[in-house]
Amino acid sequence: MTPALPFPHPAPLRAGQVSLVGAGPGDPDLLTLKALRRLAEADVVLYDLLVAEEILALVNKRARLVCVGKRASRHTLPQQDINQLLLREAQAGWRVVRLKGGDPLLFGRGGEELAALLAAGIEVEVVPGITAAVGAAAAAGIPLTHRDCAQGVSLVTGHRRDGASGLDWAAHSGSEQTVVVYMGLGEAASIASALQANGRSGSTPVAIIEQATTPRQRVLRCTLATLADCVARDCPQPPALLVIGKVVALAASWQRQAEGCLVD
Ligand SMILES: C[S@@+](CC[C@H](N)C(=O)[O-])C[C@H]1O[C@@H](n2cnc3c(N)ncnc32)[C@H](O)[C@@H]1O
Repeated sequence: MTPALPFPHPAPLRAGQVSLVGAGPGDPDLLTLKALRRLAEADVVLYDLLVAEEILALVNKRARLVCVGKRASRHTLPQQDINQLLLREAQAGWRVVRLKGGDPLLFGRGGEELAALLAAGIEVEVVPGITAAVGAAAAAGIPLTHRDCAQGVSLVTGHRRDGASGLDWAAHSGSEQTVVVYMGLGEAASIASALQANGRSGSTPVAIIEQATTPRQRVLRCTLATLADCVARDCPQPPALLVIGKVVALAASWQRQAEGCLVD
């Protein structure tokens, strides 16, 4: 049951409207209240592989659930077909939820879906979600910024569109910058080389956070110089993020201190 809140409920989802909803990084408790409302109101929910079972269990029991796949390059449906399906469901007058992992407009081609729907005159809303970088950092106790050692944070993708040129790593190589790489496991070795070639020290701390915010979360720690070996040895599996920067060591030092307090 949706709790009573001291502010008005948003207007319910209308027939023929599409809600692009962020499901957050995995933990169902990280869904927004608005996302929960939309899941309860939907007639049809088109969801990605990354959306957790526990979140799908919160969908209106009378709604149709359609898996449209999508994990890095393993698309169950090509993007064009997903756009067309969304369009058809909305034009048929259903209340449509497009449920995407994390935030719907970060690294998930949500922008392309939004553009296609708007171009066809469909009414669309966006319900933001907690993106994986923010959820994973919180779950691992890593502050993405800290005034002593990280003035900013960049969210980048390690997965390049076919034929696209590489990222401008020089722009992400400041020693006081945290870099979070989505979909970067397969390219970990080349990302580590590129950052070092652009002046980032080999001793820069790295955390690999796998299945963040779920009961299966695993955090591996290494440095830019040892990242490739760490991936080869410990075989982290997607979904995973690379968090690169001094904040990783800072968080580890706080954790050691806390453990020391417990032992004392
Ligand atoms: C297609 S992108 C979608 C990102 C999503 N829109 C967001 O805002 O988090 C998928 C990538 O996000 C990252 N990711 C998503 N959920 C994650 C999780 N629970 N733990 C670690 N990484 C995750 C991984 O890098 C994964 O390959």
